[in-house]
Amino acid sequence: MNAEPLPTTINKRESSLAILKNYNVSDAEIDELLCLAGPDDARLYRLTIRKRFGEPNAYLRGHTRFFGREFRLDRRCYIPDDYARELAERVIRDAPSGGRILEVGTGCGWLSISLKCERPDLKVAACDIDPNALCLARENAMRHGADISFHESFFVDDVAIPEPDFVVANVPYGGDADYSARELEEREQMPPIAICDSEGVVAPLVGLVASIQNRRWRSRIYLETGYLDEWRLGPAISSCRCYEHVRNGDFGYIVIEP
Ligand SMILES: C[S@@+](CC[C@H](N)C(=O)[O-])C[C@H]1O[C@@H](n2cnc3c(N)ncnc32)[C@H](O)[C@@H]1O
Repeated sequence: MNAEPLPTTINKRESSLAILKNYNVSDAEIDELLCLAGPDDARLYRLTIRKRFGEPNAYLRGHTRFFGREFRLDRRCYIPDDYARELAERVIRDAPSGGRILEVGTGCGWLSISLKCERPDLKVAACDIDPNALCLARENAMRHGADISFHESFFVDDVAIPEPDFVVANVPYGGDADYSARELEEREQMPPIAICDSEGVVAPLVGLVASIQNRRWRSRIYLETGYLDEWRLGPAISSCRCYEHVRNGDFGYIVIEP
């Protein structure tokens, strides 16, 4: 006896497009998913379902680029933005020959790896409180052959290295009120510890400076501060010797001596 024919499989391309439209995904994002999937309809369907659960395109894409290099990206880390690029360029310019640099809150590691690749003379160390992010950063460093020592640490408390010349950091700052609804949706998908701190808008910046001061380090500190105005930065820099605030629209950083 012949078995009943199986129901026809769904047309995954059509279903994907219907789901994405229904979920109000923008045309630009849909185009990117189509491009990522190419002719593979099953992949498009998987990406669509992940998108329906709110995953940002950056994670679906799975990589990002800085200084002409590709870095792997996934839910273990913060989605890097362009804000810290100028800070990285500045450190590449300023760092003394053969200097020691420590990056705090390295995430996927793009900044430390870029520093080491652009300036092989530097001794670069990087730390993060999140072991998942560190695991990804190590993978990215290996991929680029970057010799960096990675450390799991609360700010600089647990990093067993000699005093660095520079500490560079893009630690969380800001509050929910500073972001659009779309940005907040994206931020909900990132590791919570990489986003704002419930203790206050600049609490991690204050914590980092205190951690450096507790170690009696005199390292120069380069901090990504984005759109934050000077009055909001006050609690982080009031105990420091001197500072320079560079601000260009939403881009900004401070350079301070603890
Ligand atoms: C805004 S993300 C930036 C990541 C990366 N620097 C980048 O630009 O993509 C902040 C990072 O700081 C780390 N972090 C948060 N609090 C920390 C702490 N107390 N000590 C060390 N790292 C911390 C988070 O795990 C996260 O990876």
